Amino acid sequence: MKENIFKSALLAIIVLSISFSATAQVWEVPSDKKEITPAITFSMKTKTQGKDIYAKSCKSCHGDIGKANFLPLNPAPNDPGSERFSNQTDGELFFKLTEGRGGMPAFKSQLADNERWAVISYIRSFHADYKPTGGGGEIVEESSAFTGTNIKLFVNKDQVNLEITIEVQGNVDGKTVSAPGVRVGFFIERNFGLLSVCEPVTTNKNGIAKAKFPGDLPGDSLGNYNIIIKLIDDDLYGNVEYKETLSWGKAFIYENPIEGNHLWGNNTSVPLWLLISYISVVLFVLITIGWVVLQMLKLKKAGIKK
Ligand code: HEC
Repeated sequence: MKENIFKSALLAIIVLSISFSATAQVWEVPSDKKEITPAITFSMKTKTQGKDIYAKSCKSCHGDIGKANFLPLNPAPNDPGSERFSNQTDGELFFKLTEGRGGMPAFKSQLADNERWAVISYIRSFHADYKPTGGGGEIVEESSAFTGTNIKLFVNKDQVNLEITIEVQGNVDGKTVSAPGVRVGFFIERNFGLLSVCEPVTTNKNGIAKAKFPGDLPGDSLGNYNIIIKLIDDDLYGNVEYKETLSWGKAFIYENPIEGNHLWGNNTSVPLWLLISYISVVLFVLITIGWVVLQMLKLKKAGIKK
C-alpha cells in the first residue's frame, strides 16, 4: 500500500515535470504586442550602440551571436543569430526582452526603450532575411566601417592642451589609406584594469580621432600614468594598441597604511603604549607561572620533610 502511494507520487512528479518543461519552451506573446514595430530607425549607429549594450548585458548568457556558445541553461537562452530569433517579429523580441521570464531578466527598468530597440537592431543585423517592419526598422549596411587590413595608429600629442590626435591608416588593395569609421578607445592603465578617459571616438573621413584628457587624473608620485589607445572592434581589426607613459596626471603620493604609529603598524613603528602594555602583560603572565611553579616545589619539599 505504502509503496503504491510512493510509486504514484513519483509518477505524478515525473509527468508534471515533463509537461512543465514542455510548456516552458513555448513563450506566448500577446498578439497586440507582437505587432509592435521599432520606435527607432535601425542604422549603423543604433547597431553599434546595440552591440555595446549586447556585450554588457546579454553576451554573458546568450554568447557571441552566430557562434551558438550561449550558457547551457534550461530553458536555453539560445543564439540570437538563430532561426528561433529571426522567425520572430520585432514586437515579440521586444516584448520578451522587456518582460523577461525565468532565467531571462526583464530589461524594462534596466534599459530605456531606445536602448532595447538598439540591441534588437544589432541582433537583426545577423538575420539575412530580415525585412524592416512598419517602416520603423530600416537597416543600414555596415559599409561605413573601414574594411582595410594592416591597421596602424599614428599618435600626436598636444602637451599644452593635454589632447591626443590619432590618425588611423590601413591597407586597401596594397595601398595605404586613411581609415574612416574606426572606433578608438582612450584609456589609462590602473592597477585593476583600464579606466576609459572618454566615450570611444570614431575616426572621421580623414581617419582622425581626438580625445582630450582631464588634467586632474591621479598619476604616480611624479604625475605619470600609462595611456593606452586601442581599436574597439578587435573582431574586425585585431588587437591594435598604442601605449605610452605620459606625465599629464596629478602627482599622487601613496601613503602606506601600515607605516606610522598605528595599532596595525609593523614592528618598526609600533606605538610605545602598545609595546609597554604588551611587555607588561607577558611579564605578568610569566611571573605568575613562575610563582605557581615555585609554590608547587615548596609543597613538594614540605611533603618530603614530613
Ligand atoms: C542571465 C542570463 C541572461 C541574460 C543576461 C539575457 N538573457 Fe535573454 N534569455 C535568457 C534565457 C535563460 C532565456 C530563455 C527563457 C525562457 O525561454 O524562459 C532567454 C530568452 C531570450 C529571448 C527569447 C528567445 C526565445 O527563444 O524566444 C530574447 C529575445 C532574449 N533572451 C534577448 C536578450 C537580450 C537582448 C538580452 C540583453 C539585453 C538578454 N536576453 C540577456 C537568459 C539571459
